[in-house]
Amino acid sequence: MTPEPEREPVIRCRGVVKRFGNKTVIDGLDLDVFPGETMVVMGGSGSGKSTTLRMMIGSVETSAGSIELFGKNICGMRERALNDVRKKIGVLFQSGALFNSMTIAGNVALPLQEHTDLDPDIIDIQVKIKLELVGLREHADKFPAEISGGMKKRAGLARALALDPQILFYDEPSAGLDPVTSAEIDRLIIDLSKKLGVTSVVITHEMDSAFAIADRMAMLDKGKMLVVETREWYERVRDTPDADAHAMPESQRLIRQFLRGDAEGPITERKAASSYADDLLGGGEAPPVLPSVEPTRG
Ligand SMILES: Nc1ncnc2c1ncn2[C@@H]1O[C@H](COP(=O)(O)OP(=O)(O)OP(=O)(O)O)[C@@H](O)[C@H]1O
Ligand SMILES: [Mg+2]
Repeated sequence: MTPEPEREPVIRCRGVVKRFGNKTVIDGLDLDVFPGETMVVMGGSGSGKSTTLRMMIGSVETSAGSIELFGKNICGMRERALNDVRKKIGVLFQSGALFNSMTIAGNVALPLQEHTDLDPDIIDIQVKIKLELVGLREHADKFPAEISGGMKKRAGLARALALDPQILFYDEPSAGLDPVTSAEIDRLIIDLSKKLGVTSVVITHEMDSAFAIADRMAMLDKGKMLVVETREWYERVRDTPDADAHAMPESQRLIRQFLRGDAEGPITERKAASSYADDLLGGGEAPPVLPSVEPTRG
């Protein structure tokens, strides 16, 4: 059998570093995302997930490393070139980020008015198609204040889809939604990925969502991707019984604790170790006495 040709990633992050002042949030992050796949990025609060997403869309500058989208390094790219790249990506921000003074249709039309020369009636048709995709066509003339949280997410998604992006980024798409609405958004993410063939990067710490939508999953820890693996791999780690878990490498035990939401495990031990160190030193930055967890895979 002839070997499959190497697939080129649509997103390729290498050695990405982000510092805010003297605080290093991202510290040598590598990640490849391949065409059509749904990559779920997980990690604790404040671990740098949103920062990573913002660097990937070119709205936050990296301190070092490279991020290629469609084979082009966007780090240090000029605004005009960056805007061309941005036309090929859609972003659903956590809040939905809709303009309250505009109707839902107006919000979805905005990227088309700003970035294309299409006639208004063609834009209208495009808007209807996008609203139909997210199940909001009947609500086109409502204002954001008149619709529910789940509908706002849908509207934000319709706007993210306006320019027919090749990559969709989602920051916590189901945060703040009830379980049923959240499951509906998951269904929509899966549908869009299948219908449109888009590549998706989804940040979430809702584990039900993560396992429902992911092809592959990545765990962000201490500024790096600890493990990037298939959903099935993560499911196996999650479902490893207690009796077998102690034999796992620490990185896997950490992931297992995160996925299961267990009260005990490496994450808790590390927190205890760092607060003990803080205590001894009277606060400030924790010294490097934390149990170190080595990445096992790319
Ligand atoms: N503009 C900024 N200036 C200074 N520090 C920042 C800035 N943006 C983020 N940070 C810091 O970087 C760290 C990572 O933040 P980020 O929002 O990326 O985390 P997150 O993983 O998305 O967290 P959450 O799960 O709470 O959304 C935090 O400690 C945050 O305080
Ligand atoms: Mg965040």
